[in-house]
Amino acid sequence: MREVYLDYSATTPVKKEVLDAMLPYFTEKFGNPSSLYRTGTDSKDAITAARRQIADLIGAHEREIYFTSGGTEADNWAILSSAKARLKKGNHIITSAIEHHAILHTCEYLEKNGYEVTYLPVDHNGQIDLQELEASINDRTTLISIMYANNEVGSIQPIKAIADIAKKHDLLFHTDAVQALGNMAINVKELGVDMMSLSAHKIYGPKGIGALYIRKGLMIPNLLHGGAQENNKRAGTENLTGIIGFGKAAELAGRDIENHIKNISKLRDYFINELFDKIDGLEINGGMDSRLPGNVNIAFQGVEGEALLLYMDVRGISASTGSACSSATFSASHVLKALGHPLERVYCSIRFTVGDFTTREDIDYVVAELVAMVNKFRAFSPLYEKKGS
Ligand SMILES: Cc1ncc(COP(=O)(O)O)c(C=O)c1O
Repeated sequence: MREVYLDYSATTPVKKEVLDAMLPYFTEKFGNPSSLYRTGTDSKDAITAARRQIADLIGAHEREIYFTSGGTEADNWAILSSAKARLKKGNHIITSAIEHHAILHTCEYLEKNGYEVTYLPVDHNGQIDLQELEASINDRTTLISIMYANNEVGSIQPIKAIADIAKKHDLLFHTDAVQALGNMAINVKELGVDMMSLSAHKIYGPKGIGALYIRKGLMIPNLLHGGAQENNKRAGTENLTGIIGFGKAAELAGRDIENHIKNISKLRDYFINELFDKIDGLEINGGMDSRLPGNVNIAFQGVEGEALLLYMDVRGISASTGSACSSATFSASHVLKALGHPLERVYCSIRFTVGDFTTREDIDYVVAELVAMVNKFRAFSPLYEKKGS
């Protein structure tokens, strides 16, 4: 049976070049980067090189990249520390209703501790309204955190315009770019963001390593306290192998990004066209204009998403409903609900994400399997009435 992985937004396999770059740092090049002898300084140099590779991918300076344990820690650091640093000025934060839980749950924690949070709504396409954003700013606002691209429906926000609004009102602006990294050309200087969260495992790097970009000159308190690593900003012995892998993955992602985007978008469009051609009663979640290249989020009318997922798994196909975290809890996607869709559409939705190892043959297999499964489900579904029948 064919195995088809269509969940690249959840995580990606480590590329061979990435693994090859990492391997020596588990064994002969194992030195602690803080040690003063050769194996230590070699590790430190390797970390500097990786930092440069990541900085290059987002147009930053290498000293603006601080390694973390992943996107979640980067998000927590950015939100908690800037909220705390600016508390004298105010206690109000603006974010969106469709952020990842790493942002939403951090904001909820702050709310329990006396902060106020505005969760901006989004339209049917998953876009925030810039006028609404500006109108929600008050004299207690200190921080805006809006994700670059959404993990469920792939909607891309107007980051430069948001950064301009933040600057105009003297607010800090953080963006969670975990899903955007490697899928869009990013330049932090052109965008004008203050902080940006990144993660390696979405760009064919290892899990458990990420980074926070902090604009030069911006001082935010540390999240973790301890040793002097990361220029005294993030304590803890560095995840050496992870950092090397992240650096290599970033280098590979930046090598031919325009072509990558073109190829992935083409494959996504082929997938969508094939599905709509062969199955009726489908709806796309999220707009097509400003969308991540690999994202296909589809509602299959009259078919329960979780059941379809299990059937797909039996046939070797991996996809998801909602984000990886909420898909394990079978809760309705907060993102699809925020897009204004009724629950029956939310529960019928599946997110597929295509990536570097997806082929047209994979798509053909998945479409053929879906045709059979959807027909079977609908034949037994009291919820589905075929149009015209
Ligand atoms: C948008 C977004 N932010 C943050 C994260 C968390 O990143 P990590 O898994 O590296 O902690 C994810 C992971 O799914 C994500 O999609």
